[in-house]
Amino acid sequence: MDAVTIPREQLLATLNAALPNEILLTAKDDIERYTRDWSGDHFGMPLAVARPRSVDEVSLLMRCCSANAIPVVPQGGLTGLVGAAVAAPGGGEVVISLERLNKLRSISAIDFAMVVEAGCILEEAKRHAEAEDCILPITFGAQGSCRVGGNVATNAGGFNVLRYGMTRDLVLGLEVVLADGRIWNGLKLLRKDNRGYDLKQLFIGSEGTLGVVTAVSLKLFPKPTQVETALVGLRSVENAMALYARARRECSDLMTAFELILRGGIDIALGASPGLRDPLSEVCPVYVLIEASAGGRVDLRAILQDFLISADDLIIDGVVAASRAQGDQLWLLRELMVEYQGRGGRYLRTDVSVPISMLAGFVEDTLAALGKSHPHALAVTYGHVGDGNIHLNVVPPVSMVDADTIETLFHETEEVIFDVVDRYGGSLSAEHGIGKVKQEAFLKRIDDVSLDLAGRIKDALDPKGIMSRGRIFLPRAHIPEAGER
Ligand code: LAC
Ligand code: ZN
Repeated sequence: MDAVTIPREQLLATLNAALPNEILLTAKDDIERYTRDWSGDHFGMPLAVARPRSVDEVSLLMRCCSANAIPVVPQGGLTGLVGAAVAAPGGGEVVISLERLNKLRSISAIDFAMVVEAGCILEEAKRHAEAEDCILPITFGAQGSCRVGGNVATNAGGFNVLRYGMTRDLVLGLEVVLADGRIWNGLKLLRKDNRGYDLKQLFIGSEGTLGVVTAVSLKLFPKPTQVETALVGLRSVENAMALYARARRECSDLMTAFELILRGGIDIALGASPGLRDPLSEVCPVYVLIEASAGGRVDLRAILQDFLISADDLIIDGVVAASRAQGDQLWLLRELMVEYQGRGGRYLRTDVSVPISMLAGFVEDTLAALGKSHPHALAVTYGHVGDGNIHLNVVPPVSMVDADTIETLFHETEEVIFDVVDRYGGSLSAEHGIGKVKQEAFLKRIDDVSLDLAGRIKDALDPKGIMSRGRIFLPRAHIPEAGER
């Protein structure tokens, strides 16, 4: 049967009839802020923006969208950066913003757990945890904007993964509104529960393609009473990885972050803020920002200082922050580098991973390959190397201004990087997900069995194909285009 386009007005009338007032935004000015992600690189024009205030309203919305085959895209803080949560450009999708579903439902320092709604800003959720002398360990630059539901939908990583794991490792339970509007209540506080399939895992990292996460039960941890930060300079990534291996053993595995920054990244940060001084007396090719944290009866500073002194065969120079404020200054380098690396323009972002043991070789090979294929582009290299996860980004030369030429550069350099990832048996998306941006490269590499299984799961949970269509996987052929039946 040929798809028939239903006029926008008719779709909006259908939605308005089904929903309470004040849920739907349709005026151009009102929906403007839901059209672009944090980077500004991804733009989408929604049919409307729905802002439900309760899980029942999400359910009502999904029942209506399912009955009328209206495509939807759940949206959190728009910091995922792979084009998963902005609407399609054509105006056919309803954005479901979870921003009004943002309450803390419960928290218990005895259970070391909290239940928060999906629209809660991560930083807010972390504050709730701290009020109970606990921490929610998910930590990264965008935490003031991203929302917990988005963290779940993308299985967010960040700085503290090496100690506490990815978001997936921290989720005890979920509440999800399914594509047909049913509410799946999988919220629980149980640490151990082996009753059948662990259904929540399907939704974690599904990038909005299988259901709308409305609330999350999360693991908390005791709030550390000591946090120490150090920046060390080294001769090579290989030495940084040797330091990492040693640090895990010799610092009682107390590290919460082990961030690699190549010198180019430090230069970007220093250039961004003229008030900042070079953090070490010597300029080094490679830096590692280390954070360790502990509670109770250990002298963490002594452990870290002794360890760094003992590693003088690997370290050229280093500093242990004398105060929290000094520690924050060291982290500022990392933040400024991320913010200013693109010089205000577009750049290629990658977030690849390889086995930790191979990371040094991988970085060396990739930078050599990029240097050969695109010597005028700037490669910015940093990452969460304690997890084998590295951001290898490519900034166009200043002289390159033509948009098509820049796109071609991104495409070519991404292929160069992913080819090396393939050789190392790595992942082309360790952190940010597939969305639309990594889709082509992902589908080029996926095996038939994985594709078949994923397709069956998608069809089972979203038989009409209305959830975040065309993200991760291509829309199934039998499913009509956005806004069409
Ligand atoms: C980071 C984010 C962009 O590592 O993944 O800063
Ligand atoms: Zn990252």
